[in-house]
Amino acid sequence: MHHGPRKSSLSSAAAQNGLLFGTALCTSHLLSQPLTRAILRECSIVTSEYEMKWDAICQVPELPDYASADGLVSFASDNSLALHGHTLWWHEAIPSALRNAADNRFREAALEHLRATVTRYAGQMHSWDVVNEPLEPAHGRGNGLRETRFAAAFGPDYIETAFREAASLDPRAVLVLNEMGLEYTSPAAEQKRRQMLALLEREKARGTPIACLGIQSHLTALEQPRDHQELRAFLREVRAMGLSVMITEMDVSDHLCPRDRKQRDTIVAETYRAYLDLVLDEAEVLAVSTWGLSDDRTWLNGFRPRPDGAPQRPLLFDGAIRRKPAWHAVKDALATNRTVT
Ligand code: G3I
Repeated sequence: MHHGPRKSSLSSAAAQNGLLFGTALCTSHLLSQPLTRAILRECSIVTSEYEMKWDAICQVPELPDYASADGLVSFASDNSLALHGHTLWWHEAIPSALRNAADNRFREAALEHLRATVTRYAGQMHSWDVVNEPLEPAHGRGNGLRETRFAAAFGPDYIETAFREAASLDPRAVLVLNEMGLEYTSPAAEQKRRQMLALLEREKARGTPIACLGIQSHLTALEQPRDHQELRAFLREVRAMGLSVMITEMDVSDHLCPRDRKQRDTIVAETYRAYLDLVLDEAEVLAVSTWGLSDDRTWLNGFRPRPDGAPQRPLLFDGAIRRKPAWHAVKDALATNRTVT
């Protein structure tokens, strides 16, 4: 049973400012007692890392398997944890059997999956990443929309379609448009921020029920700047639109850092602190979640291996579930009282 936020936990630090703190997990993580205990102690929200994705549920077409997703929902409700559903429509999570289906078949299957999934968990979800990663400036469309099967089959209105369907089937869930790379400092990132603001304005004007912008926050130490005026300005504009923000997948890759563990841990912690201070200063944040809790399970060892081959140390706990400097940095940022300017 979840014993509620304890004094020295990330969830209690977050609760001091009306925030939730959490992490992404799979049901397989719950086989580890130490990790499960840490999740229960530190988190007030959890995110489905894989098992609520379309391709995970529909590994066999026509035979959706919700067993693992049900397991996550039970774990969250049994332990009074909020549950953030990731993700209903994402171009990288289309069941293989549907990737090349005819547009009308694809549309029918995508809508059926969204309706069945949102209905199944209606009333039990804190929030949903309804659409994940809709933008790709490199695809050269004026509006920056990523060329995906959803865009091809439904047209650019697919975002409105998804959010309206989800809102009608679960009016209580916070509906989130989730995106990567909005945090970076490249010209492409600034273009993506501009295109995201234009997209949010367009959708808002047509009444699409987007309540919250999900900012994935996959950061790189020594690349992420300590301050970031463009990001500040972007977050102010999001807030001016009346949209809240969720930090949905935060981690700090240390592949550019020196090998020395103490140095790496210090640099990673400083990166977390500076980033969270900026976002929490400028945005109406509902929840801060990392993409995993302990270093041994990070996706980054596959995606961004260090040149020297040393395992990445991107998260708040080490492989033995011990708190790292990053834990203290995040706790201090969450607990800092911020007067809304
Ligand atoms: O465990 C299953 C196995 O039972 C199944 O038979 C097999 C079939 O391919 O897949 C296995 O699952 C793997 C799953 O991770 C296990 O956690 C999938 O192969 C693998 O593709 C999946 O990768 C996930 C990836 O998204 C794709 O869904 C990563 O764990 C997850 O960290 C990553 O997360 C993404 C976010 O959704 C979106 N933002 C970027 C982030 C990092 O890429």
